Amino acid sequence: MELSEMHVAIIMDGNGRWATARGMQRLVGHAKGADRVRDIVEAAVDHGLGHLTLFAFSTENWKRSEAEVKGLMALFRRFIRAEKANLYTKGVRVRFIGSRDGLEQPLLDLMTGLEEQTKDCKRLTLTIAINYGGRDEIVRATQRVAKAVAAGRLAADEITEEMLAGQMDTADLPDPDLIIRTSGEYRVSNFLPWQSVYSEYLFEKTTWPDFTPSIFAGILNEFKNRDRRYGAVVQK
Ligand code: FPP
Repeated sequence: MELSEMHVAIIMDGNGRWATARGMQRLVGHAKGADRVRDIVEAAVDHGLGHLTLFAFSTENWKRSEAEVKGLMALFRRFIRAEKANLYTKGVRVRFIGSRDGLEQPLLDLMTGLEEQTKDCKRLTLTIAINYGGRDEIVRATQRVAKAVAAGRLAADEITEEMLAGQMDTADLPDPDLIIRTSGEYRVSNFLPWQSVYSEYLFEKTTWPDFTPSIFAGILNEFKNRDRRYGAVVQK
């Protein structure tokens, strides 16, 4: 598979552990993590990757301390402000998935501003999941479909896999080919459950703040050689 057609998604885990192992506040780890986001996005552009999706904040992350949640939201705002021009120049189209409910207006304005500014960029599609949960996404999609059925705009037997896929936040994205999780945990954590039924998983022991472009390059290289069958027998 050509890298330009490939969709890689990453669960960026281990910021907290990276920081506490060094006697620092968890937010220092998140700030380091934001630096890695910049590096890995640049690396993705350099490799000619088509789609990169990053899990930045889950619907479950609201349970963290108020200080950590606030700090993360401030980091997202800072990242968008600092990286906007660079992303546009590099040809990165940015989109956000997840529920917009519960996010504060200044962040929402920055998110929609960045989506708008980069909407015609063609090199890499960067999708950032903020306030995203896979079950929440499926519930929101189901509610829209149920409303259409109740209003008589849709018949129940017109509901197909393709139609439901088109109701997900990822409607215009191909399904992820590869999902990477850093920091040595073997969990999926409610990330893209609808979209990942045929995805390959790669669990990497390095924490996200230590995840370098060269580790990323090695993974992309290894993945290119994996044999993906989608339940069928591949003719060789
Ligand atoms: C998981 O590490 C990471 C997060 C919940 C936040 C991810 C956020 C970033 C990488 C920062 C910036 C992102 C963008 C898009 C600018 P953890 O805190 O769960 O780590 P732990 O399991 O070691 O506690």
